[in-house]
Amino acid sequence: MDNVFYRAVRKSYLEVDHGEGVYLYDSEGKKYLDACSGAAVANLGHAHPRIIQAMTEQAQKVAFSHLSRWTSKPIRELADLVSSIAPGSINKLYLVSGGSEATEAALKMARQYFLERDGKTNKYRIISRWKSFHGNTIGSLSMTGDKRRKKYTPLLLNFPKAAPCYCYRCPFNESPETCSVDCAHDLERLLKFEGAESIAAFIAEPVGGAACGALVPHPEYFKIIRQICDQYDILLIDDEVMAGFGRTGSMFAIDDFGVVPDMICAAKGMSAGYSPLGAVLAKDEIFDAFLKGSGVFVHGHTYGGNPLSAAVSLAVVKTLIEDNIVANSRTVGKYLLKQLQEKLLSFWFVGDVRGIGLMQGVEFVRDKKTKEPFPASMGIAEKITVMLLKYGIIVYPGTGGADGEIGDHFLLAPPLILTKDQADEIVEGLVAGFKELGQELGSQK
Ligand SMILES: Cc1ncc(COP(=O)(O)O)c(C=O)c1O
Repeated sequence: MDNVFYRAVRKSYLEVDHGEGVYLYDSEGKKYLDACSGAAVANLGHAHPRIIQAMTEQAQKVAFSHLSRWTSKPIRELADLVSSIAPGSINKLYLVSGGSEATEAALKMARQYFLERDGKTNKYRIISRWKSFHGNTIGSLSMTGDKRRKKYTPLLLNFPKAAPCYCYRCPFNESPETCSVDCAHDLERLLKFEGAESIAAFIAEPVGGAACGALVPHPEYFKIIRQICDQYDILLIDDEVMAGFGRTGSMFAIDDFGVVPDMICAAKGMSAGYSPLGAVLAKDEIFDAFLKGSGVFVHGHTYGGNPLSAAVSLAVVKTLIEDNIVANSRTVGKYLLKQLQEKLLSFWFVGDVRGIGLMQGVEFVRDKKTKEPFPASMGIAEKITVMLLKYGIIVYPGTGGADGEIGDHFLLAPPLILTKDQADEIVEGLVAGFKELGQELGSQK
């Protein structure tokens, strides 16, 4: 046993040696297709020469300077580039070091915005949704709606939760044919119940990620949400920490839903794993409230806006644009999803295969007809993930999706540079792993 305090202290971990493109190699030389980019992070694959060059050049100039005193060319160029691709009047970039810091900063920015704009001291709570993940710090975990909260409940803030967009297990028992997008109208119900005067913002992932395995909302969902937010004067925070920067086949996943949020939270794919970085992208109107008000957002993290991470992110975003990576995510994503649906849904324990772009989820059930999940004690998500290592495929498992306790899924989020041949390789590996799982579960069918 070494001296690292791992998340799961009894688990054994693979030791990574190096990466190249979509592949990772362990220290014994075994090759794995990184079909989840770690946790939807390594969007350009591993050891990308352009990013390594940008990192090296910036490190040779200056790696760190603190935002309290210094600006730098990389952060200004990054902000310009991101504002040119972000929707609507989202033009201002507040830099932090990761996803939880981004959602935490958005929470505080929303609260301070209403203080600055019209001195509203009571408008500070944030509505989020069940089956969501917004991070692990206390504020972001308060907005999170999944089992990661449970052990910390006494420490969390009292934030209301709306229904998720979980079409496979619709909370309103609707089907695609009868759907009236009640999950979107649930926000209005909550606002009336809680009192909109106490609510600063609604936060949602445009495509649900870690808590549920690629839940894609109804095409009208965000239009209804936008209209409700406007009607009740609350901000719409779009948490694109996982979905943003090309993952869903659009630069921002929200672009597909025809609305402009007030803030976008980003991280992961924005620096593609080469250096920690996150950001809140804010509308001009929000920035202006600070400009005309106190002039200071009372917030900051030491590494936020460091020149090294900014230079990395700048090179990543330029590569996404210049090499048409986002279009590849859409095209190869469609291909992969079709293959997965054709080859996996025939297994008796696969309930749903869903997603958009290269953000896809596979959900396991004990009974396809009733959608009954496996008992938690069987640890199906972890079991299949470990089995798949044998076939050289790495996926991102999750549990608790069905009712907060039980339910197994995994997320596929391969690097966006994936080719169709590599998509086939993923499917072949999954089919082999699922056959083995089928044999093991056979007696329990
Ligand atoms: C949608 C979303 N928000 C926030 C986070 C938290 O990001 P981080 O792990 O970088 O703190 C994640 C991480 O998976 C995420 O998927």
